[in-house]
Formats: sequence, C-alpha cells, structure tokens
Amino acid sequence: MNFEQYLITQIEEIKCAGLYRQPKYLSSPQGPRIKIDGKNCLLFSSNSYLGLCTDPRLKKAAYDAIESFGVGSGGSRLTTGSYDIHRQLEEKIADLKGTEGAMVFNTGYMANVGVISALIDKNWIVFSDELNHASIVDGCRLSGGKIVVYAHSNIDDLARKIALHRGRPSLIVTDGVFSVDGDIAPLPDIVDLAKKEKAVLMVDDAHATGVLGDKGGGTADLFHLSCEIDIQMGTFSKALASEGGFIAGKKVLIEYLMNRARSFIFSTALNPASCAVSLAALDIVKREPERRALLLEKAKWVREQLEAMSLPVLPGSTPIIPLIIGEAEKAVEFSERLWQRGIFIPALRPPTVKPGFSRLRISLMATHSWEDLEYMINAVKEVAEKMNLKGRSRERLAGKRS
Ligand SMILES: Cc1ncc(COP(=O)(O)O)c(C=O)c1O
Repeated sequence: MNFEQYLITQIEEIKCAGLYRQPKYLSSPQGPRIKIDGKNCLLFSSNSYLGLCTDPRLKKAAYDAIESFGVGSGGSRLTTGSYDIHRQLEEKIADLKGTEGAMVFNTGYMANVGVISALIDKNWIVFSDELNHASIVDGCRLSGGKIVVYAHSNIDDLARKIALHRGRPSLIVTDGVFSVDGDIAPLPDIVDLAKKEKAVLMVDDAHATGVLGDKGGGTADLFHLSCEIDIQMGTFSKALASEGGFIAGKKVLIEYLMNRARSFIFSTALNPASCAVSLAALDIVKREPERRALLLEKAKWVREQLEAMSLPVLPGSTPIIPLIIGEAEKAVEFSERLWQRGIFIPALRPPTVKPGFSRLRISLMATHSWEDLEYMINAVKEVAEKMNLKGRSRERLAGKRS
C-alpha cells in the first residue's frame, strides 16, 4: 500500500466510525449571530464567553499595537521577540491571579505541554483527572514521568492513588472548569490533599479565567485559594477573546520555566497585537464584573429551562451546558437538525468524549440576547421531541461522565 492509499484507508475508517470531521468556515466576526458557509445563524458553541471578539476597544488595542510595534514579533522570547507589551501582560496576569509572577506562551496548549514537560521527569509521578484537557495529557506523555489517572473529580480515588505511590515527587493536575463537561473541580478538597501529601498542584483555568471568581480570576479566585495553588495555567483565547496562554505562580517558578519550557524557548514570541488585545480584555474583566454576572445568570436560566424539559443536561453552573445525546450519529443528527433551524452547535464525539456520551456542548456568551436564548431552547425542545430524546437519570449522567 502506498502512502496515499494508506491515508485514504485511514480516512475511510474514521468515516465508518461516524467520526469524520471537517471545519465550517465563518465569514463574519464571532458573536451570537454569525455567517457560516454563507448562512446566517445563531452561534451557541463559542468559547468567547464574555462576547468580546467584536468589542471595539479590543479591536482598537490591536490596531494601536500594530502601529506601535508592527505585526510579527521577529524572534523567540529569549532572543529578539520580547517586547514591553509582553512584560505588561505578564504583570497584569500576575495581578489578576494573585501571584508573584507570570509568563506568556503562544497558546494554552503550549503552556500546558511546556510547563509539565519542563517540571516532570522519570522520577516524578503525575496524578491527572481523567477528564483533563488533551494538552495536559500530551504534556504528561512528553514528560517521561509516571502518569496515574484518577476518576473524574473523585477525591477519594485521588487520595487512594496517592497513598499507593508515596515517596516520589508528585504533581496533581486538574482543569479548573472542565472544558467538555463544564463542571468545576473540587479545588478546596484537592488543595487540602495536595498540602497533606506535599504534592505540587497545577490548575488549568482556561475556561474559568474572566468568567469565575470575584475578580474574574478563575476557580482559584472563586474559592479564594490563589495562594495555595503552585501553578495556575490559563489562556487568553476564550473569555479574553485573544490568543496565547500563560502560567502564573511564584517568581522562582517563572524563572525556572523561562529556562526550561521548550515550547516557550523554541518558538517565535506571541505577536504584539494579541498581547494588546489580551491587555484590553483584562481591563474589561476588571472594570465590568456585570458581564460575567449576566453570563452566569443566563447560564443558570438556560439550564433551568432544559432541565424543566427533562433533557439530559449535565449539572453545573458555568456557561458550558452539555446536552448528552448518546451515539455519535444521533448527536450529529441533532446538530444537523438545529443547523436547519439556524443554530450552530457542532456535535462532540469520540475521541473528545467517551463512546455513548456524544453530545451537544451548548455554550453561552454574555452578549446572547434573551430572545436568542429562547429561540435556541425552543429549537432544542422541538428537535428533542422529534428524535424522542429521553432524559437520562441525573445519577447516570453524574456517575458516568463523558
Ligand atoms: C482546558 C483547556 N486547556 C487548554 C486549552 C488550550 O488552550 P489554547 O486554545 O489557547 O491552546 C484548552 C482549549 O481548548 C482547554 O479547553
């Protein structure tokens, strides 16, 4: 078999499993109302939770930064690619996260892969939640350390597994808000356990930064635990409507990572315009707490409506609302029927979720109008009735997540 035939066979296998994916292309900015493949529709699957992708202040920040600094950064961070604006952004992130320092990576993916592989070697053991993001999984794989996966947010399982592996330096790593299930990690319990077991603790707050907590600082802020978490990871690419990832923590951690994280060292620095957009977004997070309050109010209302219809929605309180459909084909059909009604929510299928737990990951923006929400709920109801989607028990959903 030649190379081309090999690829064709592989693609056929993906198609036969109902797992074939292709992007849909937007020809409008990302907001509640978008144009995809020439069709106007409502978007309910964006990570732009605060609805800032079209904010004029962020656009102006990008234009101004381009005027001041040009477009490309021209080098990696340790050669010629570090600009004043990187430093300003790092200071602002440290302020939001309540840490001594911070460092910016080109993406959240690179932050996770970079930090885990820089810290962990074969002498270490990593305890990782089974639903952690793929970038954490990849960082773990790259690190060469021993990886122990614990049951999702299950503190007893984590404690049991730690007890079985004492005597080596250890890292506990968890998403703050789980990207696909939308639930919040039990941080107070994890912090207590990490302290007791003298484990280093890392929290990925990609989906919580700008959304949760008094200051919008994420789950550490929500639980007032900023000082207790050794490594706070996040991204600018979701609520902050920009690009880039970051790590926040003690100065000594940042100093170490700047010298050891290969995805930081061996990649051209994030462009100045993205840094400027992130800075402007962080200002909005600070000055407009009402945005996240409104977002969470809307999320609560949508959940209540879906639950009132006995639809199989995972419990939670974040703007990520997973509607469990089951088999991949059914989830695709559900998504397609919504698309016909002018709503875009792609189906999430294996390998993103476990087989049998394919779903629609409904996500909200603060800028969705109440009419948008009502329209979506009515459409979901109509499709669910047509497809005879029955509610699964809460126990089953909670007990066997994705
Ligand atoms: C939990 C989590 N961590 C990390 C990332 C990676 O962030 P980025 O998209 O900035 O690479 C994502 C994004 O998909 C995520 O959901």
